[in-house]
Amino acid sequence: MKATAKAHTNIALIKYWGKRNEALILPTNNSLSITLDGFYSTTSVEFKEELTGDRFLLDDIAVEGEQFQRVTTFLDLVRDLAGKELFAEVASINAVPTAAGFASSASGFAALAAASSKAIGLNLSETELSRLTRQGSGSACRSVFGGFAEWQKGEEEDGSDSYAVPIAPQEHWDIRVAAVVLSSKMKKVSSRAGMRRTVETSPFFKGWVESIPQDLEVIKDGINNKDFEKVGAIAEANCLKMHATTLGANPPFTYWLDTTVSVMQTVQQLRDSGIPAYFTIDAGPNVKVLYLPEHEEKVQETLRTIPGVSDVKLSRVGQGISYLEDEKFV
Ligand code: ADP
Ligand code: DP6
Repeated sequence: MKATAKAHTNIALIKYWGKRNEALILPTNNSLSITLDGFYSTTSVEFKEELTGDRFLLDDIAVEGEQFQRVTTFLDLVRDLAGKELFAEVASINAVPTAAGFASSASGFAALAAASSKAIGLNLSETELSRLTRQGSGSACRSVFGGFAEWQKGEEEDGSDSYAVPIAPQEHWDIRVAAVVLSSKMKKVSSRAGMRRTVETSPFFKGWVESIPQDLEVIKDGINNKDFEKVGAIAEANCLKMHATTLGANPPFTYWLDTTVSVMQTVQQLRDSGIPAYFTIDAGPNVKVLYLPEHEEKVQETLRTIPGVSDVKLSRVGQGISYLEDEKFV
């Protein structure tokens, strides 16, 4: 009872920020993302009769504490669905920095959901897999699909209608994302804790939620028509709105560093010089820059010269979940 799956991270252009149900991971707003081919997790899960508890190796190191707890709690859901009581050995390799704002939780939980459900013998549809994945980490439910995906928040109390749907496939549009690395350190406020504090205390949260339907309508039209300026402008504005909510929280907080702001300003300067480039930032200090293939050299070169930037990693639009033969996973 073993399976191995690979899942890519995604970058939200319309952010998920706020839950209406913490336990089931149900969001207050729809979100929309691009799956990225440059960052991924590969996870192998084996259920075994002889185990007396779950085991979790991340990047070849045995994990305990909260990270282990999240995995074992997720495996409980899978065991419940399958009606089996077996424990599992989980081994995952992140080709993405962990807990640094690069969405390792998205690729990590999508790969875990796919590998564990397959290993235990569940034969889930993509919708069922997305719904299950959501309960590991919300944004992960979008990583089940390649290309562009929207997580529909749903209305039901039990979360049965809260899952991602594909908006456009990987080959629909070759837009690029540069991940500007400022810090790969673990962040101080996790996305989970950050959005909780914002929902509970920020007076700006209401305005954030109310603004989403309009942003979604515009961005979906932009994606359909491959209107890069339209998509970039809305993504950048949506990111700034999300981060503004954290400044209104009590106590206030921000994920930005001084270099985060430098990168944002440089992207705006690139635009002033005639190169369409737009930024977006998740719950961390690192910035992702959206651009078109013909501007790759100039964008990359400009970002690398900013003091405090330690690396720039380029990514294309990526694929959804894939399953690997075990011997390929080392
Ligand atoms: P980010 O998603 O930006 O990397 P988060 O704090 O939102 O940061 O999520 C990071 C958490 O996701 C980790 O602390 C760990 O609990 C979980 N995680 C990351 N990678 C994996 C993985 N490959 N398998 C299982 N869980 C993972
Ligand atoms: C800022 O999906 O990591 O990246 O559901 O609590 O696991 P949990 O949170 P998570 O939050 C991601 C927040 C974000 C925006 C986004 O990816 O949509």
